[in-house]
Amino acid sequence: MRLDKTYFDQKISRLGTDSFKWDVCRRENGRDAIPMFVADMDFPSPPGVQEALLMRAAHPFYGYTEVSEAFNLALCDFWKRHHQVDMIPESILSLPCVVSGLKIAIQALTEPGDGVILQKPVYGPFMESVRLSGRREMNASLIRDAQGRYTMDLEKIETFCREGARLMLLCNPHNPVGRAWTWEEMNGLARILDRYGVPLVSDEIHADFVFHPHVFQSALKLDMEKKMVLCAASKTFNLAGLQMASAVCPGEDMRTRIRKKMEENGVVSGNIFGLTASRAAYETGDEWLSMLKKRLKRNIEWFDDLLSEKVPCIRMTPMEATYLAWLDMRAFGLSTKEIVDRLKGGNIIVSPGTFFGEEGFIRVNLACSDSNLVVTALKLEELFRS
Ligand SMILES: Cc1ncc(COP(=O)(O)O)c(C=O)c1O
Repeated sequence: MRLDKTYFDQKISRLGTDSFKWDVCRRENGRDAIPMFVADMDFPSPPGVQEALLMRAAHPFYGYTEVSEAFNLALCDFWKRHHQVDMIPESILSLPCVVSGLKIAIQALTEPGDGVILQKPVYGPFMESVRLSGRREMNASLIRDAQGRYTMDLEKIETFCREGARLMLLCNPHNPVGRAWTWEEMNGLARILDRYGVPLVSDEIHADFVFHPHVFQSALKLDMEKKMVLCAASKTFNLAGLQMASAVCPGEDMRTRIRKKMEENGVVSGNIFGLTASRAAYETGDEWLSMLKKRLKRNIEWFDDLLSEKVPCIRMTPMEATYLAWLDMRAFGLSTKEIVDRLKGGNIIVSPGTFFGEEGFIRVNLACSDSNLVVTALKLEELFRS
């Protein structure tokens, strides 16, 4: 299929592809269930990605594979073009996925019992990774203002640093609250962490979904020694099933510790198709990405308008970034489980706020077809009209 303006409207069923979003959801919730949960888009990947995969698959050898210099250069060029970030190829380590990078960083940079700072509400595996490794969660909750916009609690972060925190995990841009952290915020955070020698691990998997006039500010631009960025083409180009991510760690000492922990745990990458697809995406996906961002922005504004008109009690958090709407449902006085179950009864499957450490909220994935977007808004109206 050529890349034209109907590209994102193609009706291609994802059922029968072992899709977590579609097959698992229908198996668990019934054949009419509409998956509006996991961060996986119902839009086909760029044509250049499919072409590269087909070409590579045609060669019948799939043996051990290196992460080539060309792959890392494609990643560096993409980040330079899109985010004005200078990545050095030597600073890049390869991983099967971003969450494995969070886990490795925790193990490499802290000891059991150490405090790790994070900011709830945040992507569930942040908490899970701290808990499963026997480290201590230090939650500097984000602050929500009257308009529903979230900011960092830098005072709390400084208190945790003073109390001996050993690592900070940042979600940048932030899932689920949709903030694109400004340069002032990033710099303010770096100044505190640097003063106490606390390393920063920044999960930047949503970097390419920041909407004008907001600007993505990578932690790689910070003047700070102990920093590492986790990134991937997987979220941007819808390639999560191909299991490929990168850890960019400019400081040699920190990088050596991360590499050693990867070796100890047998965390290796070199998935032929993950590498082929990600490289093709970095090299040929710009036009597709620009069209995708327009579609996502339209979906976000459309969904926001529908909710404001039909169920104004549901407050949608202003979205500067990501395609994941964070909805404040507290006006209904229900538990998160009651809200999610009621929606499930109406065949709409969403992510509960509790997955991100917050009661009374749900997260809705807006990278979907027009019909699923409208059906979800109408169901919210039907089920939550006061
Ligand atoms: C902030 C964040 N980090 C990591 C991931 C998962 O990345 P991976 O599949 O590469 O582990 C997600 C997926 O939604 C995410 O939102």
